[in-house]
Amino acid sequence: MIGIFDSGVGGLTVAKTIIEHLPNESILYLGDTARVPYGNRSKDIIIRYTLECVDFLVSEGAKCIVVACNTASAIAMSTLKDAFSIPILGVIEAGAKMALLNSKSKNVAVIGTRRTIESNAYKNAIKLIDDSINVFQKETPLLVPLVEENFYYHKATEMVLREYLDDLVFNVDTLILGCTHYPLLAETIASIYPHLCIVDPAIEVAIDLDSILDYEGIKCEKANKASYRFCVTDNDKDVLSVTKSILGDANNNIITSMEEVRL
Ligand code: DGL
Repeated sequence: MIGIFDSGVGGLTVAKTIIEHLPNESILYLGDTARVPYGNRSKDIIIRYTLECVDFLVSEGAKCIVVACNTASAIAMSTLKDAFSIPILGVIEAGAKMALLNSKSKNVAVIGTRRTIESNAYKNAIKLIDDSINVFQKETPLLVPLVEENFYYHKATEMVLREYLDDLVFNVDTLILGCTHYPLLAETIASIYPHLCIVDPAIEVAIDLDSILDYEGIKCEKANKASYRFCVTDNDKDVLSVTKSILGDANNNIITSMEEVRL
């Protein structure tokens, strides 16, 4: 089974894409809802929490890990690769690759949590592939609570987006959504800035995951009946309904309950 980890429920946007792209693969999702958000925490804490979450997924039998959380991918990936021997995939390289494929002007913007932007993870990943790309970055911490309030199309969200993005995207043609929550704002962002190509790294993550499973010889056969398990560290009353809503109507039958786990 594939273990997918996020600091909370935002990573379900990545899980959804993976479930749809790889329907034969069983999924174990873990959202660290007891300790979300990670985006403003210290590096040491992000690394410790991430190790604990991935440890849980591995001990439950994951054959491969997707770190859906951008903050954890930006801060903890090298520690994770040292600590575990199974394939571990983050979201940063996938987002960088997609942006490069889409940008014609070679001017790309990235938004994310404070730690993701401070780490320069996206900028470094893009420059590693093509040093001539101009990368403009901005931390946009208010977007996570707005998404968690389901304010996807709310006028408060539009105001905040304009405040953050008006200057940032003026000269760019591509915007990377460097946080698991932001794909839920993609339609609103597109309606304000129709010139932008909006990059959700999840799509490339699913494609890369497919190749890695193939390469490692651990991809499930077509006949496999996938199973799904969704876990959180704090099963608050709304978690199940939020999960169903993020997974969308088409996937609603794959989740009947949410499990609370201790790490
Ligand atoms: N999942 C986090 C990310 O993608 C956003 C929420 C948080 O700050 O933990 O960066």
